[in-house]
Amino acid sequence: MSGNIYESPKLVSEYLLLHYGNVEEVLGGKPGPAEAVDFPARLVRELLAPVEPGSRALDLGCAVGRSSFELARSCSEVIGIDYSHAFITAASRLRDTGGHAYEKAVEGELTAPGFARVPAEIDCSRVRFEQGDAMDFHDPEAFSVVLAANLLCRLPDPKRLIDRLPSLVRRGGQLLLTTPFTWLEDFTPRAHWIGGTPATGRSFDALRALLDPHFGLEHVADLPFLIREHSRKFQYGIACGSRWRRR
Ligand SMILES: C[S@@+](CC[C@H](N)C(=O)[O-])C[C@H]1O[C@@H](n2cnc3c(N)ncnc32)[C@H](O)[C@@H]1O
Repeated sequence: MSGNIYESPKLVSEYLLLHYGNVEEVLGGKPGPAEAVDFPARLVRELLAPVEPGSRALDLGCAVGRSSFELARSCSEVIGIDYSHAFITAASRLRDTGGHAYEKAVEGELTAPGFARVPAEIDCSRVRFEQGDAMDFHDPEAFSVVLAANLLCRLPDPKRLIDRLPSLVRRGGQLLLTTPFTWLEDFTPRAHWIGGTPATGRSFDALRALLDPHFGLEHVADLPFLIREHSRKFQYGIACGSRWRRR
């Protein structure tokens, strides 16, 4: 694939709306799947089990940061990592100022002003964002919670990340995954897909086989999400959400 789509102003705007937009801002009063709005906050509410005070969390592929902020409601330190400089710049501005103005597409060249806001009750000082490669992330101390939301099928080699997870999640800690298993050769060479071919079978079964030596499955949930491209065009997906406990 040429260039990184996640560096483009178009994607920064779409993700600010995906992460911080309410039903009115996303659907603009039109009919649509309202239950799919607020995905990054909803996935944390659905998947995160209670954590001990002082817990540290890692959000891999955090984009513009909403799930990282939501994790900070219960974790005292959250690190959000994303490969996109543009996403990390936007997430860091939200952390530092609590808000971020942007333009959302209406149709053609027409745009409308939008404003992303971190919920006022969240302590942003618990969160920090860093640009980096999730497949190569290292930290001297393992985390109580590791989240990778809709990341696996955007990596060139998702198994490289899966192989690193046992050292990133401390024993007894939680691994939270969401993925729509949208395998595309633009992002992941077919040889690196986890399932999704006649020879390898269903992706969730293949994922479970890879995680099983180190993680026990605790919870599975369907998590719809809605990305607004412009006022009359949306991407609707249903991510497979799961929580795994480090053995
Ligand atoms: C489909 S988006 C999901 C973003 C966010 N977690 C969410 O659920 O809305 C995939 C994200 O992964 C990031 N990403 C892709 N490859 C990455 C890598 N190797 N390391 C870290 N982040 C990566 C992209 O920049 C993008 O923000």
